[in-house]
Amino acid sequence: MNCSVDYVFGGDGAELRRLVAQAAGLETEAASMLDAIPINPGWRVVDIGCGPVGILAMLSQRVGPSGAVVGVERERRFVDVATDDIERRRLSNVEIVCGDAFSTDFEEASFDFAHERLVLMNLPQPEQQRLVSHMLALLKPGGTIALQDYDRVSCLCYPEHPSWTILLDAYSTAFRASGGNSSTGRALPWLLRSAGARNVQTKVQARFLDVGDSRRAHHLGLLDVMRAKILAMGQLSKSEFTGHERALRQHIADPDTLVMDHLLVQAWGSKPIWRLSVLVDLRRSIPRQLYPPKAVAIAATAKMPVVCHQQT
Ligand SMILES: C[S@@+](CC[C@H](N)C(=O)[O-])C[C@H]1O[C@@H](n2cnc3c(N)ncnc32)[C@H](O)[C@@H]1O
Repeated sequence: MNCSVDYVFGGDGAELRRLVAQAAGLETEAASMLDAIPINPGWRVVDIGCGPVGILAMLSQRVGPSGAVVGVERERRFVDVATDDIERRRLSNVEIVCGDAFSTDFEEASFDFAHERLVLMNLPQPEQQRLVSHMLALLKPGGTIALQDYDRVSCLCYPEHPSWTILLDAYSTAFRASGGNSSTGRALPWLLRSAGARNVQTKVQARFLDVGDSRRAHHLGLLDVMRAKILAMGQLSKSEFTGHERALRQHIADPDTLVMDHLLVQAWGSKPIWRLSVLVDLRRSIPRQLYPPKAVAIAATAKMPVVCHQQT
């Protein structure tokens, strides 16, 4: 099963640098979510679409020497950077797998924790649903799935500036045309629940970006990697784009300009634990096609009817 959608931003050097800076800027938020879950020593965990950094080092430290961290990444260039980084840091419990998250050889129900950050928002909704279902399938019963994606709802500057509005609208149009969705953050709890996760919890993180904060210029970085697509769509001419970019750079450099970041939405939940019991009341049964394969196998071996209940 292959993912039909290419990564919106591609795998070039500008995107690589943007992702490395972004991962550093999001460490505090990631740590607070991992502490809230929390991640236990000895767990086997997977970071889907880990990019060149992801949260691999944080996971490595939390699962400890008896645990294992697997990063899955499709872009070869990002895999190479991630591999060099874990070697440099001597993180012996981390392994990077190069490939499509949908077509790995991982056994179902073999992880205690599955995570993605900023992967879903690059996909159209049916692909988002498919990826969340796939992540749940990788989890052991009772395992935890965690999602982190942006929502553009809080993204603003004050005083407002026409170049901000023009460039960010052009960016959003190009992003959507490439299959991305910059309002994904708000959909995360729904994506989890509709895929069957239980005990869903949500945290939102918003912040003002002071002068000197690397995220303050982040929008310029996004525009940089999306420039070719914006120009190809004919939304702005090259000189219009350059003029607005210059004006926006000046506006953001002004310490009196307030810049507020995208909303980072974090949502996590657990895979239901199934239990088997002898069938006593057919009306309480759930559709047989929803039974986990192990339950069906045990039922066949025991040669007795069973009914599956979900534990919340
Ligand atoms: C915005 S980046 C985020 C990287 C990382 N999760 C982080 O937060 O720093 C999205 C990453 O997901 C990867 N990706 C997208 N679709 C993928 C797929 N189907 N399988 C594996 N990686 C994928 C992209 O190559 C890219 O590195």
